[in-house]
Amino acid sequence: MTVATKTRTTFEIVPLSRHIGAELRGIDLRTRPDDETVRAIYQAWLDHLVIIFPGQDLSQEDLVRVTSCFGEIGELSRPPKYFPKGYSKLVPGIMLISNIRENGEPIGALPDGEMMFHHDMIHAEVPSKATLLYSVEIPSTGGNTLFASGYAAYDTLDPAIHARLEGCKALHHYNYGSTQRGDGKGTEAFGEMVHPVFRTHEDTGRKAVYVNRLMTVKILDLPEDESTRLLKHLWDHSEQRAFVYEHVWRKGDLLLWDNRCSSHARTDFRSTERRLMLRTTVKGTVRPC
Ligand SMILES: [Fe+2]
Repeated sequence: MTVATKTRTTFEIVPLSRHIGAELRGIDLRTRPDDETVRAIYQAWLDHLVIIFPGQDLSQEDLVRVTSCFGEIGELSRPPKYFPKGYSKLVPGIMLISNIRENGEPIGALPDGEMMFHHDMIHAEVPSKATLLYSVEIPSTGGNTLFASGYAAYDTLDPAIHARLEGCKALHHYNYGSTQRGDGKGTEAFGEMVHPVFRTHEDTGRKAVYVNRLMTVKILDLPEDESTRLLKHLWDHSEQRAFVYEHVWRKGDLLLWDNRCSSHARTDFRSTERRLMLRTTVKGTVRPC
């Protein structure tokens, strides 16, 4: 189903799966949309969790300006000592995701291969509200981003598991740069935080499953074996194909996703092909509850 908006900038909203993802067609983000259009885009984002603006041609400054339409731009989270080498050429607030290497050293963060499902910055006290990712160079195949709806996972949870976990909290830990649980490949710098297993979205009032395979260590106040079993169940349930949209990147795609109610992962790609993305975040405004 395609919906056309009636704002000053007419654009189409094309849903991409049953639970998550929509493409917004007809918007050129080189100029700031008027306030009414920004409100319509924001609502489409709340409705679809992940929105795609295809065919963009953005400078770093454009990306910073687009980010500011959705809130305050987030600072880079890892300590500057651990910044990859290409970061010196970036406008403040922008992060480079790339496997391109100079003298054998990656110029960007998260350079290689597959990455497990996660919520960006769930290991912080106030995690990022949103992430924007813009593709500059993409491999011929792979490096897709999978998005899972935490709402769909919550709404379909087994009632007994739901009852057992309501009100529970989970511990999250992340070493910056790690892509697989316990891979030991991240930096020494890390973040760690406790948040509710089910999060209520402050804009929509809906509840979402808020744990992930990459970063969630354990559920507090449960025997260790039960915590491990229930987490595994939540991960498998949340990542099932019916709740996921897989984005196959095109050059010039700008994606905006909601870290409060969705998680995402990356598929593998060839290390011999170049991949370069620019990333910004929007600061969260509340502690998850
Ligand atoms: Fe991420």
